[in-house]
Amino acid sequence: MSDHRRRFLRILWGALVLYEILNAFFILLLRQLPPSPEGEAFELFSLLSLLLPVWLILSFRDLLPRVRLFSQTFFLWYFALGTFWIGGGLGGIFHFVEGMFPGAAGGRLGASYSFRAVEGGALLTLLFLSLAVAARFLPPRLIRIDLAFEGLDPRLEGTTILHLSDLHVGAWQGEGRLRTIADVVRTISPDILAVTGDVIDHREDEAQIFERIFSSLSGKIGTVAVLGNHEYWSLEKEAYPVMRRHGLPVLKNESLLLERGNGGRIRVVGVDDPAGGDYAPDCGPDLEKALAGVRPGEFVLALVHQPTLWEGALCRAAQLTLAGHTHGGQIGGHPPLPSLASLFFRHPVGLFSSTDPQCPGHRLHVSAGLGYYGIPVRIGMLPEMTLVTLCPKTEGSGEAKSQKK
Ligand SMILES: [Fe+2]
Repeated sequence: MSDHRRRFLRILWGALVLYEILNAFFILLLRQLPPSPEGEAFELFSLLSLLLPVWLILSFRDLLPRVRLFSQTFFLWYFALGTFWIGGGLGGIFHFVEGMFPGAAGGRLGASYSFRAVEGGALLTLLFLSLAVAARFLPPRLIRIDLAFEGLDPRLEGTTILHLSDLHVGAWQGEGRLRTIADVVRTISPDILAVTGDVIDHREDEAQIFERIFSSLSGKIGTVAVLGNHEYWSLEKEAYPVMRRHGLPVLKNESLLLERGNGGRIRVVGVDDPAGGDYAPDCGPDLEKALAGVRPGEFVLALVHQPTLWEGALCRAAQLTLAGHTHGGQIGGHPPLPSLASLFFRHPVGLFSSTDPQCPGHRLHVSAGLGYYGIPVRIGMLPEMTLVTLCPKTEGSGEAKSQKK
């Protein structure tokens, strides 16, 4: 386990213990008050808030049944609670502003501070929940990008690469949803199907679900993949053999030459995820090994899970690098709009051009992915897959980008 993850888990456990103590204290306090219907309702609310994390932890450790709907309810509960407090704060601010301009509020003037806070909390919660729930029923968004490259072999012109990332098969992805994604892939039928990690979320049986739904899918000239941190967190040093056995053609620090019917060739390089280094000495990124097969003049497509690997040698070697991992933060928009991921990542989501003078025109595409991590919620940053079409660079050519549902 990496230091970063250990620290993160320690903070998470600390916050959870504090939260449970506060809940228990609140229940004990309510018991001291004279009985009332409001008091009983609050007590029930606190008891549920106390028990939900206990159920979730035990179910993730397979000590209690893991009910998908129940887990989603858990996260939505806390998501709603968070938005309610934020909305309540905004309602309180509105109350003070309203007091400064008495004429502007019309007949509603005079509502108490607590009424405005509850009103604000309820409205924001309703708005966010509606957006989050609606997003789960939308089909995955298909983003189409035409990418022009200097000196592209004319035989590679029009090659299509479908980029899938962060499926997170597991608790938050029902099989119906996965079949919808598979149907879209089948309809598009790209030349290359590229998968950049985090296919599974938490455990090995999710790899069986992946195999059942996705292993029959293939790009016309090839399917290629790399592992993500979740494969390593779930399967540890067995991640590579297990995922290959379940139909994911993983490239672990190696490359593969794909050839079109007309003779045009693409060298696909797969770089292993840094999380692998925590479990086995032969796992984790090894750029020298991954790039060993690259020959001068080849068009190189690189796959990584984490976009931080793009810097330096990989960026110089590969005209196009595909990555995932960030989920775009699950909340926000593609640049120039901000997203939660832009707080943590230099390349949070979308398309980036190299600023390295040694490789002008080389690109990185970071997918917001198709799945969920933590909360089963996406606002603005909807599940997506990207279809990249290779084009030759001509005078004034740029990226033509379109989005389609
Ligand atoms: Fe992920």
